[in-house]
Amino acid sequence: MNVQTSKHLAQDTDWWQGGVIYQIYPRSFQDSNGDGVGDLQGITQRLPYVASLGVDAIWISPFFKSPMKDFGYDVSDYRDVDPLFGSLADFDALLTRAHELGLKVMIDLVLSHTSDQHPWFSESRANRSNPKSDWYVWADPQPDGTPPNNWLSIFGGSAWQWDSRREQYYLHNFLTSQPDLNFHSSAVQDALLDTARFWLERGVDGFRLDTINFYFHDKELRSNPPLAPEERNGSIAPSVNPYNHQRHLYSKNQPENLVFLERLRGLTDQYNARACLGEVGDAQRGLEIMGEYTQGDDRMHMCYAFEFLGPDPVTAQMVKQVFNRLDTIGKGAWACWAFSNHDVVRHGTRWQLSDAALRTYAALLMCLRGSVCLYQGEELGLSEADVAFDDLQDPYGIEFWPEFKGRDGCRTPMVWDTQDENAGFASVKPWLPVSETQREIAVDLQERAPGSVLHHYRKAIALRETLPVLKTGTQDRMDVAADVLSFHRTNAEQEVFCAFNLGEENAALTLPDGPWENVATDLDGAVELRGNQVSLGAWEYCIAVKREEQ
Ligand code: BGC
Ligand code: MG
Repeated sequence: MNVQTSKHLAQDTDWWQGGVIYQIYPRSFQDSNGDGVGDLQGITQRLPYVASLGVDAIWISPFFKSPMKDFGYDVSDYRDVDPLFGSLADFDALLTRAHELGLKVMIDLVLSHTSDQHPWFSESRANRSNPKSDWYVWADPQPDGTPPNNWLSIFGGSAWQWDSRREQYYLHNFLTSQPDLNFHSSAVQDALLDTARFWLERGVDGFRLDTINFYFHDKELRSNPPLAPEERNGSIAPSVNPYNHQRHLYSKNQPENLVFLERLRGLTDQYNARACLGEVGDAQRGLEIMGEYTQGDDRMHMCYAFEFLGPDPVTAQMVKQVFNRLDTIGKGAWACWAFSNHDVVRHGTRWQLSDAALRTYAALLMCLRGSVCLYQGEELGLSEADVAFDDLQDPYGIEFWPEFKGRDGCRTPMVWDTQDENAGFASVKPWLPVSETQREIAVDLQERAPGSVLHHYRKAIALRETLPVLKTGTQDRMDVAADVLSFHRTNAEQEVFCAFNLGEENAALTLPDGPWENVATDLDGAVELRGNQVSLGAWEYCIAVKREEQ
């Protein structure tokens, strides 16, 4: 380890606060061994590019041993790398290289469920009396043979699957091949904490914790009540999914979870400068649960929010409402915001954004209180790829096609090289087709074009990195006038005023007493101030620092 690296690692225990995390979907980032599927060595090769973006950390979606029914979110061995992605030695090399480049590495722990191929499940399903018989959620049928209650799987149908060996149902919140672990068993909790310890010992800087609010289910297996149509929203599951018709009172969000999260945090805190990012998926109570999970110092460091991942474009009013709610019901919460990820339609397409709008949203994301996740290819302004039914891989898409096309359109290979047949991703035909539209805006081309979206993202990230107030300052005086959202970010040293026009109408603004100095001069869409006055055209914005009077 060189001096610079050890300094970086030792000093910055709060690196996650306001940090920018770049999400890598390993299947689709870079193939290194010519099998058309991305892998760990491929990621390592591309780390200098990731570091050049100026981000603080990477989060790698699961690369553990898996039958890949849910592309790695179905783990059959938590302590090994799937051969498709490489080996543990490849992971160690990745980690070392990332640290040399000043990047933290977060891995994606899928603790709520395993694959049905995990040895724990094979043992548990064998009979009702084996030592792991209660490691999963088993329940007898109702007298008429139907499932124990009305819980639904997000991926379609009942959350209960019949198993003829035990003549019982087992619970799965996702695919039938993803049986849900029983967190009411302390042996299960211990085994999972051991898993986390294994990776902490290997030197990972943190965890993205998959479906963290699904860990516990109601012990009494009570049925969920229905949810009125006007309360439904498509932030977790598409609107055609009946999962939205229930209030998930009993199938997730159980109070016992807090105690487990405290155990997990206690373990993580035995290591220096590690961070936990919990994914909280709940269409109604997401922010409230985020508050419960991140307030104080003894649960999660931050929670991943779905608020800006929904189908409706993020408006000025919406941002204000989200922060107001967070400050009311989740005071002290630490959110991690994202516009895109491997589960949703890329936001340029989802919100039908113009080039200017896309750039403005990038700048906005870098100015918000909380931490930030960027999804691979977001920095290129990629739109959703069109994947034909015949090329579809995602079981979720196959189930709800064509009203919901699944998640393949945001998982197509990263586009590195415009000229290359496979966009520089692989030397052979990739597991999902390269999008021709995306290839036209590949990395190599954008690197050479000073006005590209890629360079804009770099500048927006750099702004956040050079103004610590944008990472950890308070955020207040949030105001909405027409489509303009404005707010202040403040810490002991600095005050920053931000105003974003998230619409097409011109707007004029008078800033509070200054003097103010424009700090976003090189960002596309940012405008100059005239004294305390600023005029914002369509999708323009202003970011200004208050200067001490001479
Ligand atoms: C992940 C999905 C995955 C699901 C089940 C999530 O929320 O992000 O990709 O299918 O959990 O593990
Ligand atoms: Mg490969």
